Amino acid sequence: MNVTLRQLSVFESAARLLSYTRAAEELHLSQPAVSMQIRQLEDQAGLQLFEKQGRTIHLTEAGHELFQYSRAILHDLHEAEEVLEALKGLKTGKLSIGVASTVNYFAPRLLAAFSQRYPGIKLSLEATNRENLVHMLSANEKDLVLMGRPPEQIDLEAEPFLENPLVVIAPPGHPLASERHIPLQRLGEETFVIREAGSGTRAAMEGFFTRQGVTLKTGMQMTRNEAIKQAVRAGLGLSVVSIHSIELELETGRLVVLDVAGFPIKRRWFLVYRRNKRLSPAAGAFKDFVLSEAGNLLSLPVAAH
Ligand code: PGA
Repeated sequence: MNVTLRQLSVFESAARLLSYTRAAEELHLSQPAVSMQIRQLEDQAGLQLFEKQGRTIHLTEAGHELFQYSRAILHDLHEAEEVLEALKGLKTGKLSIGVASTVNYFAPRLLAAFSQRYPGIKLSLEATNRENLVHMLSANEKDLVLMGRPPEQIDLEAEPFLENPLVVIAPPGHPLASERHIPLQRLGEETFVIREAGSGTRAAMEGFFTRQGVTLKTGMQMTRNEAIKQAVRAGLGLSVVSIHSIELELETGRLVVLDVAGFPIKRRWFLVYRRNKRLSPAAGAFKDFVLSEAGNLLSLPVAAH
């Protein structure tokens, strides 16, 4: 059958509205043009598609059949158009992402794999602490945010994509480094270097110790994970960090993870965006990519005790 899409859409409209006149109006055609397209279709089909009863028209059995197929074909075509439109967007999109400072240890690996799949999308990444990420979300400044515990005061979609265990770190020569099952209370005798007040890691650590009834002696406060690690190496105290931030130090033996009862503190990383935000094709692609690929691309560093 050598039919055209034009004939099918004219037929679909006339069959749906059961009127050539209304089909002509809907398609901005003249009534004779509609009749002609349908007559040509009937010639191709070798069957009548409509029957006239007085001034009204009805579909014949062949008309009913062809109506179902026309709808399916036109629906698929529309869907194909949408997919192609979305792909056009993905070729040239821009994406601005905020990430927690600790996420920055693995975010580049995710971004590199994403860029390979969508080379035309320009990505910009800003890494900062939890408090600043919350500001970014409330000001609607970023397309997507990768962070720890999502804030409750903003209406958000939040999907977990990776584990984020928090561990106690010490320099390799520390007296507790060789001990097993260190009781949590024992940590009360140590000094801890801690992150700044807006840090999600710090909030999680403080919440954990408060719930367990352990009061920590805190020493120096630092705004970056890197500074925390250097301070611990230098013997200024112990600290609690995400295991993602110490992958290299564990490999080279520069820091050790203490075997403390109740640890690791179990946290997760979330992909977050405002609930009423319409994600651009690029943002949608990044979201789908992170949720489906993060588990394959990123392995959790292993802490040997
Ligand atoms: P942060 O990391 O400690 O750098 O704020 C975010 C988080 O762990 O929630």
